[in-house]
Amino acid sequence: MSNTVPWWRTAVIYHILVPSFYDTDADGWGDINGITEKLDYIRWFGVDAIWLSPVYPSPLLDLGYDISDYLGVEPKFGTLDGLDRLVSEAHSRDLKVILDWVPNHSSDRHSWFCESRSSRNNPKRDWYIWRDGKPDGSPPNNWISVFGGSVWQWDDHTGQYYMHHFLDSQPDLNWRNPDMQAAMYDSIRFWLARGVDGFRIDALDMLIKDELFRDNPPNPDYEDGNGPDSKHLPVYTRAQKGIHDIVAQMRKVADEYPDRLLAGELYLPLEEVASFYGREKPELHLPLNLRLCWTSWDRDEWKSVVDEYNQKVGSKGWPTWSLSMHDCPRLAARCPGEHTRLAAMLLLTLRGTPTHYYGEEIGMRGTPIPANEAHDPQGRRTGRNRDPQRTPMQWNSKLHADFSRVEPWLPISDDFQTANVSDQSDDPHSLLTLYRRLLQLRRDMPALNLGEYQSLELENPLLGYQRSSNGQRVDVVLNFGDDPVFYRNDGIKRILISTNLDRDHEVFNEVEIRGGEGLVVSH
Ligand code: NOJ
Repeated sequence: MSNTVPWWRTAVIYHILVPSFYDTDADGWGDINGITEKLDYIRWFGVDAIWLSPVYPSPLLDLGYDISDYLGVEPKFGTLDGLDRLVSEAHSRDLKVILDWVPNHSSDRHSWFCESRSSRNNPKRDWYIWRDGKPDGSPPNNWISVFGGSVWQWDDHTGQYYMHHFLDSQPDLNWRNPDMQAAMYDSIRFWLARGVDGFRIDALDMLIKDELFRDNPPNPDYEDGNGPDSKHLPVYTRAQKGIHDIVAQMRKVADEYPDRLLAGELYLPLEEVASFYGREKPELHLPLNLRLCWTSWDRDEWKSVVDEYNQKVGSKGWPTWSLSMHDCPRLAARCPGEHTRLAAMLLLTLRGTPTHYYGEEIGMRGTPIPANEAHDPQGRRTGRNRDPQRTPMQWNSKLHADFSRVEPWLPISDDFQTANVSDQSDDPHSLLTLYRRLLQLRRDMPALNLGEYQSLELENPLLGYQRSSNGQRVDVVLNFGDDPVFYRNDGIKRILISTNLDRDHEVFNEVEIRGGEGLVVSH
């Protein structure tokens, strides 16, 4: 690999939900030392970077996405020293460390908000978004919170409403205030100076709100069961004018340190996602493409997302792929059994940087948890419970799947007898082995890594593409159907890997692909 290629282009990013990875202090919650202990597993697995869910001090009402101090570590997760040790141990294994950074809102326990709500004249009043109600006392406009209800919360003490896109204990910061911005940029510097390799930026598209606070129009396509805020089109709440300048400024701050990464969470049409690489000025290295996390398992739908995304990104920047993460159901809950193998092959062979969610490598399914017992505030308030995809990592088939010595904060998924690292490590045909072999192939083959991408126009149920680099050429072909289908292409010579891990023989211009099987074949 040439030195001019930034590390994040060839990297695979492993997304860890800190509370659920490994508990070393027997409180039922995963912790930073637990991640340090498992670095050898992560390295052995074959990824290049870890992205940690928020580890900052927090009342943990939204699993750490409610930060009460941007410059510290939540005691439940460890200490600043422990985090420094994790970064240095990770680096010594050639692994990068990415933190989650949540600039849209803080916790209401952050000292900034305590000051802001203390009086209308407090210097930090304008660090958050305060508005008068309408003349009849009702909230300033019709905006709906992601977790349901109005985004406006009445504050008796100062007689105004403050805004919160999520819980009322997660007040939105005012990104039009320069002092607040400066303090947040300093928090970026604080972590980068400690050696952290970058950030995944939470809810980035929501940072700036319409200056006139106009009502959002109704969404004609709204269906019950979608998020409460999707009753409206987010015309005045997402990707507002001015957002690109802010992101360019974040990038400028990150660029004060060599080789760092900014990736951002964006729920926008793909064209707009791609605009976050930057226009006049550089913005994100990786505007995250989350569309496949929410696309139902259907060959035509996946193909159309893959094609559309590639077309929108074009030459604007380097693509990125996520098939699952802590907010959406796990792959095993979204596609039929063995098809999790197709998903693995797709994720690791498309052109771009993949993010891989912990536990997908062993096919964790998650446990159904009724909304009234949900830990997740979204689950309790909207019924769309995210707990099932957040259950503890399954290390082996012993008590609590060896995640913890005590009862974990969320129940262990009942598939842990088979879906666990220990059993699957020794099994040459396991899903874990498939992931590892694909990761190895990706490292070994320039075509699969930085290579060019060409969609193959195949008939349903096949989905395929060709990757190539300097004369090295491979076809990736996935059979979404149940029946065998022939794939023909002049010049294909050898199966490099099958999702079933049971064949790697020569072929001559054609190959039969079994139902639910995916192949990488070389020319
Ligand atoms: C997006 C995060 O991924 C989600 O888990 C969180 O609840 C919200 N942002 C609020 O920070």
